[in-house]
Amino acid sequence: MNDWWKKATVYEIYPRSFKDTNNDGIGDIQGIIEKLDYLENLGIDLLWVTPMYVSPQHDNGYDISDYYAIDPLYGTMEDFDRLIQEAKKRNIYLMMDMVLNHTSIEHKWFKESRKSKDNPYRDYYFWKDLKPDGSAPNNWTSRFGGSAWKYDEKTEQAYLHLFDETQADLNWENENVRNECYKILDFWAKKGIKGFRLDVVNLLSKTPGLPDDPVLGPTGDGRTHNVDGPKIHEYLHAMNQEVFKSMQLVTVGEMSSSTPEQCLLYSQEEREELSMIFSFHHMKSDYKGKAKWTNEPFSLEKLKASQSLFQEKMHKGKGWNALFYSNHDQPRALSRFADDRMYRQESAKLLAITLFGQQGTTFIYQGEEIGMTNAYFSSIDDYKDTESLAAYEELIASGFSEREALIILQQKSRDNARTPMQWDNSIYKGFSTREPWLRINPDEISAEKEMSDENSVFYTYQRLIAYRKKYPIFTEGSYRALDAENKELFIYERLYNEEKLLIISNFSNKNIHYKMPADYREPHRINILESNYGRENLSATLELKPYESLLLFRE
Ligand code: GLC
Ligand code: CA
Repeated sequence: MNDWWKKATVYEIYPRSFKDTNNDGIGDIQGIIEKLDYLENLGIDLLWVTPMYVSPQHDNGYDISDYYAIDPLYGTMEDFDRLIQEAKKRNIYLMMDMVLNHTSIEHKWFKESRKSKDNPYRDYYFWKDLKPDGSAPNNWTSRFGGSAWKYDEKTEQAYLHLFDETQADLNWENENVRNECYKILDFWAKKGIKGFRLDVVNLLSKTPGLPDDPVLGPTGDGRTHNVDGPKIHEYLHAMNQEVFKSMQLVTVGEMSSSTPEQCLLYSQEEREELSMIFSFHHMKSDYKGKAKWTNEPFSLEKLKASQSLFQEKMHKGKGWNALFYSNHDQPRALSRFADDRMYRQESAKLLAITLFGQQGTTFIYQGEEIGMTNAYFSSIDDYKDTESLAAYEELIASGFSEREALIILQQKSRDNARTPMQWDNSIYKGFSTREPWLRINPDEISAEKEMSDENSVFYTYQRLIAYRKKYPIFTEGSYRALDAENKELFIYERLYNEEKLLIISNFSNKNIHYKMPADYREPHRINILESNYGRENLSATLELKPYESLLLFRE
């Protein structure tokens, strides 16, 4: 089967925070190699490692200055080659994180481009005159706040940056840019990796002329003209033909605000673009409308509505989802969507079950498998992330007190997910022997503790990963939301031939009575695949405990 990756589970590593072996406080490639046995034990198939290329690290590697070399921070190219080999011995394959929407302004292309208006590299990026009144060339905003344009005195023009001002957007209209990007992909593919995670790849194509966006605010200010732009499918298809197809690579595109219709186009097999997509709509279940930097409470209704919509549409249209609740850009799902204090273990398992029952390729973000929680830093000095620091400034400038701004960061900052991996309970949690680059979360959670407890979150993930390989219903089954209006329960079933899966998750801290659907009552034989309360029997009416979750299989 050439779509083995549909049954696979991918583990995301944020190398900076995974495992430090030379004790400089920063995780490294050698650290990943040391932990491969742990990952093999968990049962994962693919590793997605966030960027380790040479970078000034303004956005922790998403600002690349040399695509062909490993940053010495993480090790050497020999270390990287060894990682591929060592992983392969354990049937684990690598997925590289590739950033093709922008480069660091320290990349040689940009340095050339900046020199003069007629430099051969000028057109690798977007350069424009300011408006006569001295304002930016258009009204587009950066995803990290403020205008998306940075004026450069040297040539008296501004360049486009949809992220940090040290990340200049590449001009994909330029054929040379496209060819350079294929070359980069090809270089890494030939090293024996199995795939790519493509960073913000729905932004590659911009409306020619870069017109003002008529829509303002979080859904607009440029998004009309830079999300799923006019040539995006053409570019991805070309990338597929040039590189992915012949090497049989698995690809996942980050599609932050793309619609389900667009996501289908990106991932339908016969279109030959990408294998699957990350959609982020469900990550907005604690946004105020579309606005992220608020402390809006989590809404289960929003989570269910967006996940159910994608499940149904992608199944019907034969697209493919990448399933995730956490990654390096999101606070810990356990802290956001459930209860990370009173019911931490139950909640972590509930999220695992609720996600792994769905259709798609499952992703685990480092630490999720041991139930790590948000860091809740209480001083702005503890935050390191460029997006969080910019958001803090903006919040203060718009009238929030420092305390209020910090409370929002505690809920929304990406640093919540970036604290070092907690391997054991020594002073620096087995991550390093010295003070790490980002503060450690001082709680008691550790991989060591999880491994020694047979009822732990870790083993729940281990079993879930195995079920997905064993039962075709996980990959093939259709999706049906049940009790869609319920504000506390997330219930859905999967249907495949005569088989059924039923997932029941109580996202509240209350006991709730739930009447089992007739199909799952006597005389049908129901197999309890997972229960986060160790339930052994079912009844016509269940009294669900706080954050209780069940995965039931009817053969
Ligand atoms: C993606 C990455 C994120 C980065 C941004 C800009 O969203 O996941 O970490 O800041 O792109 O490259
Ligand atoms: Ca190190």
